[in-house]
Amino acid sequence: MNLILLGAPGAGKGTQAEVICDTLKIPAISTGNILREAVKNGTELGLKAKEYMESGNLVPDEVVIGLLKERIAQDDCKNGYVLDGFPRTVPQAEALDVMGVVIDKVIDIEVADEAIQKRLSGRRVCEDCGASYHVDYKPSAVEGKCDKCGGKTVQRKDDHPDTIKDRLNVYHEQTEPLKDYYSKTGKLVIVEGQEDVKDTTALTLKAVEA
Ligand code: AP5
Repeated sequence: MNLILLGAPGAGKGTQAEVICDTLKIPAISTGNILREAVKNGTELGLKAKEYMESGNLVPDEVVIGLLKERIAQDDCKNGYVLDGFPRTVPQAEALDVMGVVIDKVIDIEVADEAIQKRLSGRRVCEDCGASYHVDYKPSAVEGKCDKCGGKTVQRKDDHPDTIKDRLNVYHEQTEPLKDYYSKTGKLVIVEGQEDVKDTTALTLKAVEA
């Protein structure tokens, strides 16, 4: 099964992608995580992406489309995958169609902008393994320390309040039109993001299984 998770930054795509992957035993592909890893390692891709990401802008389509194409050609993707954060523009969605990728379902997690501000400003991520926490909704057992690997948890540069506003503007302008794009294919399912992670998870899994 090939799934797309749509939604504003901080809507909970990464959180839900993890659950779907555990349930369906297919990999989650987060273009954001691939790009952050490249930035951390100072690769050519990372050098291209860094400035766009830190200012809350999208990395150019041709860069992201290229990396996605490489990633889904890998062996672990042959039984399907969950795309988290791709596509993010209409040209990226069109590129998937041109690649011949058949998408079974597009799950759009809807969360109001005000709630997004709270979620992203309280998010902390592990510097080493990338695990994600929230100071109120999903705190690590020991403050500042990752439950999974013991690494240090920090705030992402693009989770500062001003950058969150810019990311939301970019989302509304460039990514939200994808709802219309996929609604026309009959594959769009809307999940109303809930206050509690568990409640959103229940609705997401119901949408996957429907
Ligand atoms: P990316 O990493 O994809 O960031 P994003 O879309 O902005 O999404 P986030 O990872 O910030 O949020 P999320 O929806 O996964 O939420 P999460 O589950 O963590 O991209 C980063 C950057 O890379 C982009 O800005 C761009 O520059 C570039 N990029 C990536 N893909 C690209 C593409 N295709 N094209 C061009 N550029 C691209 O949840 C957020 C927080 O809320 C967490 O703390 C979590 O614990 C908490 N939370 C989650 N669910 C709930 C709930 N139900 N209730 C309460 N709290 C919750």
